[in-house]
Amino acid sequence: MSAPQYVLITGCSDGGIGASLALAFQRRGFHVIATARSVKRMSTLESVANVTLLPLDVTSPTSMQDALKKTVTVTGGKLHYLVNNSGVSYVMPTLDTSIEEAKKMFDVNLWGVLAMTQAFNPLLIKAQGCVVNIASMTAYLNAPYWSLYAASKAALSSMSETLRLEYAPFGVRVVTVVTGAVETNIMSHGDGFALPDGSMYRPVFKNIEDVARGKSLSSWLPVETYAERVLKDLMGGAHGKIWRGGLSSTMRLISSLPGFIMVGLFSPVTIQFQET
Ligand SMILES: NC(=O)c1ccc[n+]([C@@H]2O[C@H](COP(=O)([O-])OP(=O)(O)OC[C@H]3O[C@@H](n4cnc5c(N)ncnc54)[C@H](OP(=O)(O)O)[C@@H]3O)[C@@H](O)[C@H]2O)c1
Repeated sequence: MSAPQYVLITGCSDGGIGASLALAFQRRGFHVIATARSVKRMSTLESVANVTLLPLDVTSPTSMQDALKKTVTVTGGKLHYLVNNSGVSYVMPTLDTSIEEAKKMFDVNLWGVLAMTQAFNPLLIKAQGCVVNIASMTAYLNAPYWSLYAASKAALSSMSETLRLEYAPFGVRVVTVVTGAVETNIMSHGDGFALPDGSMYRPVFKNIEDVARGKSLSSWLPVETYAERVLKDLMGGAHGKIWRGGLSSTMRLISSLPGFIMVGLFSPVTIQFQET
């Protein structure tokens, strides 16, 4: 019997991409270390064979070191896949952005990924493993109100693609999953969306609220389908950027076209103001 292969995934709360990726890896015979800020939120993975649940907050060095120690115990010091999936979204006009909130988002979406990869590097090197970073198609658009979220994912994509080159001599693969619309809980954070007092964007509040609640998109891919497609790519030896999720193929094409096409795509923002 061949030795078990190990994968650690961050942000595996119920209903999200992390939980579905965990099950997709498990179905392929991997031992999965599924992590989340709260173990209680991983109930769908609770009694699944070959899944170890660990608490992990990617913004806490102490939590990360605890998870690292436990992972070494479970895996014997080898990690074949590290999936940096944890992420938070933030929808807000650029000028209304709370810098404090945006910095907290960057702590998860960018710095958390870097800290995790640095901490688990010895295990990845030992396994000649693979780092999978869950990025977003928003990084390649200029979709109104996604500004700082897109900036955090653009920074992630850039770091991920550079790391790919820097890791190559050491035999570690890096995959950046440019993710489109996937049905998860991510947009439920838009419930209770509010603009700050005095916002210039109050006349189009409803439009922004629709973006925050995911109502401005219609092509949401079921999370299980997304996870299966990503796994197929990974098992097929994918490296670099892969585009997966609702609208990702269309957006991939649009992002490669001249800039005026993008402006045309998002001109409804101006129209919305004209209509108020
Ligand atoms: N769904 C989409 O359409 C879409 C599109 C593009 C990119 N993405 C990316 O896909 C990834 C997964 O998102 P999702 O759609 O599955 O949303 P989700 O269901 O909200 O999952 C996000 C996960 O990140 C976790 N998380 C947040 N802060 C964390 C922290 N400090 N430490 C550790 N974990 C933390 C959340 O934990 P809690 O449950 O404790 O909050 C949750 O488990 C994210 O990086 C997201 O940006 C999603």
